[in-house]
Amino acid sequence: MSFNLKGRSYLKLDDFSQREMLYLLDLSRDLKRAKYAGTERELLKGKEICLIFEKTSTRTRCAFEVAAHDQGAHVTYLDPSGSQIGHKESMKDTARVLGRMFDAIEFRGSSQDAVDDLAKYAGVPVYNGLTDDWHPTQMLADMLTMVEHSDKPRTQIAYAFLGDARNNMGNSLLVLGAMMGCDVRMVAPKENQPHDDVQAIARKWAEQTGARLMVTDDIDKGLKGVDFVHTDVWVSMGEPKEVWAERIKLLSPYQVNMALMKKTGNPTVKFMHCLPAFHNTETKVGQDIFEKFDIKEMEVTDEVFESPMNVAFEQAENRLHTIKAILVATLAG
Ligand code: CP
Ligand code: NVA
Repeated sequence: MSFNLKGRSYLKLDDFSQREMLYLLDLSRDLKRAKYAGTERELLKGKEICLIFEKTSTRTRCAFEVAAHDQGAHVTYLDPSGSQIGHKESMKDTARVLGRMFDAIEFRGSSQDAVDDLAKYAGVPVYNGLTDDWHPTQMLADMLTMVEHSDKPRTQIAYAFLGDARNNMGNSLLVLGAMMGCDVRMVAPKENQPHDDVQAIARKWAEQTGARLMVTDDIDKGLKGVDFVHTDVWVSMGEPKEVWAERIKLLSPYQVNMALMKKTGNPTVKFMHCLPAFHNTETKVGQDIFEKFDIKEMEVTDEVFESPMNVAFEQAENRLHTIKAILVATLAG
């Protein structure tokens, strides 16, 4: 039987089954090869896709736009201040309007309830382009990148996430590895570990998939033998500036630097990051933090970031191929 994901939304990590995720990864690889070979066919001609961004974006927006254009679809971009959403119109009403004009809607914002409401009332597929809780489209790109950069079968891949592990990226990487049957280590101080409800979702998946899950504040134990080290910003979009001081204090020991990469004991270990990353003072935020706290690097050092260990730019490219796979699987035909 062939897969039929037509009309499906992607709101949280495990909206798709393991088999469906593996199918989307296969399709991503096919679409990537077709683009490289110049043999891509337009399967989404005439489709209209709305992109709602209540928070800023480089990768997610560009991946949706380029994927749609490659496949012959059109996009409409609504920026954080460019619509009535929130201040003059509820999500329920917005959904009922957009559902009459578009074939699919992407939403990035803080609230998981908002993206859930959009899907409930729009009547067309809705894709979560990041909320405070989940970053589902990022996870297909992360899995594709790990599979591409490992000679091991998927279920033998071991990876660690270090830093703020109770946010969208930490939550998503824990559940991703649980669904995919991997060896997953969430390495963070107690205050920043995934919440119990997220850990429970992951444990339930692990019972079915054989995934090995570890949540620990012990850096040596968490890193031993892993193939990939992931991290994310210490303060996420939408969090107040005031939390920087506490986060720097709590998470500095978990900064991904060369000494820490060596603790893996794996000479071919790779570094991953959803990006953007604070690894120098070349950004406004990086400069502000340097002036206030006298640190030039945050979650990852420039040395690791600029080394051959870093596969974050390939990870970023894979956002395009994987988002395209989601669009094709849920909209084509
Ligand atoms: N990784 C990611 O979602 O990047 P953007 O914020 O640039 O979309
Ligand atoms: N945790 C980060 C991820 C950015 C892609 C944030 O929410 O800002």
